[in-house]
Amino acid sequence: MKKLIAGNWKLNGSFDMTNEFDQAMADCADHVEWLICPPAPYIVNIENTARGAQDCSTNDNGAYTGEISAAMLSDIGCDYCIVGHSERRANHSETNEMVREKAEQLLVNNITAIICVGETLDQREAGQANVVVTDQIKNSMPAMATADNVVIAYEPVWAIGTGKAATVNDVTTMHAMIRDLLKSTLDTGAEMRILYGGSVKPSNASELLNLDNVDGALIGGASLKIEDFLVIGNAVNS
Ligand code: PGA
Repeated sequence: MKKLIAGNWKLNGSFDMTNEFDQAMADCADHVEWLICPPAPYIVNIENTARGAQDCSTNDNGAYTGEISAAMLSDIGCDYCIVGHSERRANHSETNEMVREKAEQLLVNNITAIICVGETLDQREAGQANVVVTDQIKNSMPAMATADNVVIAYEPVWAIGTGKAATVNDVTTMHAMIRDLLKSTLDTGAEMRILYGGSVKPSNASELLNLDNVDGALIGGASLKIEDFLVIGNAVNS
């Protein structure tokens, strides 16, 4: 499977920016898979990369004002959807169980779930990083998960938006731990993609994205600049 270079625009962008960005992606290199996850109103503007959403409802339909179902995302041609991003876990009190329910909704609607996991700085300093990430993966993973319908994104919370990415050593160690866990719990665990996220930028893309068990990146801030996004994807060895 190609490495996945995923842009998470969060609450940024505009109709015009999405169109300009998409146009610029028309001729991007194809040794990686490109994905853009803009805010929901702009998803349909994305035509030259895979289409992604940033969240979905745990519900199918009904009286849930403001929510968007996985079936609706499927209806507009979404290929991927992020679930369990640390900003949603922190700001919207999302639990592992809710993340799993969202991922289940995505899988039954043929959308690949990008399940985010990652420890806080306090948890890392207390030596709890492996325990926290293991717990998040075990409890957020739907029973029907395979390497074809789920991607794991390891995003240490302390590295998100701080400009301070995890070190090569941190990423190597954590991704190896996650790989072992996936192999021991899923038939296709050896192939499931594991992305790294947290202050990925042009200057560190090459050293992080070519490591063993790093199958792509989830990129926030640097995915808002077309040149930076392209440099990051092109840093992957072909
Ligand atoms: P960042 O965000 O690249 O701005 O650190 C990553 C993310 O939150 O997915």
